[in-house]
Amino acid sequence: MILVTGGAGFIGANFVLDWLASGEEPVLTLDKLTYAGNLENLASLQGDSRHTFEQGDIGDAELLTRLLAQHQPRAVVNFAAESHVDRSILGPDDFIQTNIVGTFQLLEAVRKHWGGLSGQAQAEFRFLHVSTDEVYGSLCATEPAFTETHRYEPNSPYSASKAASDHLVRAYHHTYGLPVLTTNCSNNYGPYHFPEKLIPLLIVNALAGKDLPVYGDGMQVRDWLYVKDHCSAIRRVLEAGRLGEVYNVGGWNEKPNIEIVHTVCALLDELRPRTDGVGYQSQITFVKDRPGHDRRYAIDARKLEKELGWKPAETFDSGIRKTVQWYLDHPEWVAHVQSGAYRDWVQTQYEASPIV
Ligand code: NAD
Ligand code: DAU
Repeated sequence: MILVTGGAGFIGANFVLDWLASGEEPVLTLDKLTYAGNLENLASLQGDSRHTFEQGDIGDAELLTRLLAQHQPRAVVNFAAESHVDRSILGPDDFIQTNIVGTFQLLEAVRKHWGGLSGQAQAEFRFLHVSTDEVYGSLCATEPAFTETHRYEPNSPYSASKAASDHLVRAYHHTYGLPVLTTNCSNNYGPYHFPEKLIPLLIVNALAGKDLPVYGDGMQVRDWLYVKDHCSAIRRVLEAGRLGEVYNVGGWNEKPNIEIVHTVCALLDELRPRTDGVGYQSQITFVKDRPGHDRRYAIDARKLEKELGWKPAETFDSGIRKTVQWYLDHPEWVAHVQSGAYRDWVQTQYEASPIV
C-alpha cells in the first residue's frame, strides 16, 4: 500500500481517486482537513476497503511513527501543504509550519521507518515529494522555460516554504540515502479545485453574478496542466523515476491570465448562458495586483518525457471544457465548500481590494 498525505485536497484527492481507479493497491490517506481538505472529494470511496482515511498532521511525529509501523506503506507521496499564494502573503505562519516543519517531521519519521526495513523492502521504498514550479521564481517574456537545473529564486512566502521543503528532501537523499523523488509542477486545474484559486473562482463567481477579479493588468503568464495529467506524471515518476532526481511536470500551455478569463467566460456563455443575454465578460473587474506577483512561469518537461515517456493526455481546450462542465455538474460540492470560512476569506481578500 501507499501513504498519501494531503489526499483530501485538490490534487491529492484526484491522485487517490485515479490511483484506485487504475489498480488494486490500497491507499492510506493522511490529511489534517484544513479549510482546503474536504472529505467530499473522496466520497466515492466510502465503503471501499482499499482506502483508509486518517485525520492528522504531517508535523505529528508520534502519529506518523504509528501509521508507518501499522500500515507498512511501500511509498509515501507528499501532497500535504498550505498551497495558496495570497494566503501566504496575508499570513505566512501556517506555510512555515506545514510546508517546512511538517515536511521535516515527515522526512524524519520516514527516515527512521525506512532505516528499519529489511533488504528488499528498503531497496524498493520511495518518498515522492510533490512540489511546484514557483520555487524557480519568475521569468521575463523571452527567457526559456524552467529546467530542473534552474536556480531557485522563490518570491512569495508560499514558494519560499516549498523551496525549503525541496531542499530538505534533497538533503535527506544526499545525507542519509533516503530514496526520494521530487516533482515540480506548473499550475493545475480540474475537478475539486478549491474556489480560492483563479479558474474555479472565475467559474463560481461568474455563475453567482459576481465580479471576476483580475489582478493588475492580467498579463501574468501561467503554464496550465489538467490535474489528471499531473497525477499520471506522479504515478510514472513513482514507478520509474531515478532516485534523488527532480522531474519538472508541465503541459506546454502558457497563457496570460486574461486569456484564461475570456476562455472561461466563453465556455460559460455556451454551456450556461446568462438569462439576460449579456456575456459573462461584463463581470470582469481589474483589481489591485498581488504584492510581489510573479510575471511568468513556464515548465520545460522534456526530461520527464525523454526519460520516462510521460506526456499529458489533455490539451488546454479539452481540459478546460471538462473542468467548466464538472463545476456545472456539481453545484452541491460548490455550495458546500463555500462555507462561512470561505466567505470570510473572499471578504478579506477582495472586498478591501480596490477596483483599478
Ligand atoms: P490544496 O490546498 O488543495 O490541498 C492541500 C491538502 O493538504 C488539504 O487537503 C489540506 O487539508 C492538507 N494539509 C494541509 N496541511 C496539512 C498538514 N499539516 N498535515 C496534513 N495535511 C495537511 O493543495 P493542492 O493544490 O492540492 O496542492 C497539493 C500539493 O501540490 C501541494 O504540495 C502544492 O504545493 C503542490 N502543487 C500544487 C499545484 C497547483 O496548481 N495546485 C501545482 C504544483 C504543485
Ligand atoms: O505554479 C504552481 C502554483 O500554482 C502552485 O504551486 C500553487 O499551489 C497554486 O495555487 C498556483 O499558484 P498561482 O498563484 O499561480 O495560482 P492562483 O490560481 O492563485 O493564480 C493564478 C494567476 O491568476 C496568478 O497570476 C494570480 C492571478 N489571479 C488569481 C486570483 C485568485 C487573479 O488575477 N485573480 C484572482 O482572483
